[in-house]
Amino acid sequence: MSKIAIMGAMREEIAPLLACVENINEIEYANNVYYEAIYRGKDIVIAYSKIGKVFSTLTATILIEKFGCQTLLFSGVAGGISGELKIGDLIIADGLCQHDLDITAFGHPYGYVPEGEVCIPTDVGLRMIAQEVAKAKGITLKEGVIATGDQFVSCSEKKAWIEQTFKADALEMEGASVATVCSALNVPFFILRAISDTADGNADMDFDKFLESSAKISAGFILDMVEMI
Ligand code: ADE
Repeated sequence: MSKIAIMGAMREEIAPLLACVENINEIEYANNVYYEAIYRGKDIVIAYSKIGKVFSTLTATILIEKFGCQTLLFSGVAGGISGELKIGDLIIADGLCQHDLDITAFGHPYGYVPEGEVCIPTDVGLRMIAQEVAKAKGITLKEGVIATGDQFVSCSEKKAWIEQTFKADALEMEGASVATVCSALNVPFFILRAISDTADGNADMDFDKFLESSAKISAGFILDMVEMI
């Protein structure tokens, strides 16, 4: 039977998942803990990577290569860019880019390295399942570009630059690295984020205030999706 990976970046992002699954088996590997579990009869593996592109690359790779996961779902929080997104709203990535990847000195666009692509698309089938779940829940689910970088953004100018340069609707610190791994290994993947802050001057305070509640909203949605995969 197919195994589904569900990853987050922070403990708070996976805690609401662990609270709902059964038969948890903890496995320590590569300075991290992986939780094999069952949800509604499905085999899943849950882990949080720690923050940023490097740790999330490691965790996504291990979930696929060591644990044999054939689908990867990411659940967590993001800073909202689009004016349509309020704290607690959900966004799914249709594509992900790295806003801090810069070899423009050589004439390349921001976010691009040779033999790579600026924006990595997510799996269309998983996005369709997400839209069905949203419809059943009676919520609107925004689809858009999510920009990833190894920076917590709490500055309106930086946020505006990321919006203009990448047409991004939200930003966070792991999505594009997970996308790079999954796309290279041909594993269908899906990135869901609930807004915790709006990446401007109040972002640090809002993040602390809304991390847990927004992480819970994202995790609940992901579990509803697992039933349909
Ligand atoms: N994740 C949630 N909010 C964020 C922000 N403002 N910057 C980067 N990652 C985030």
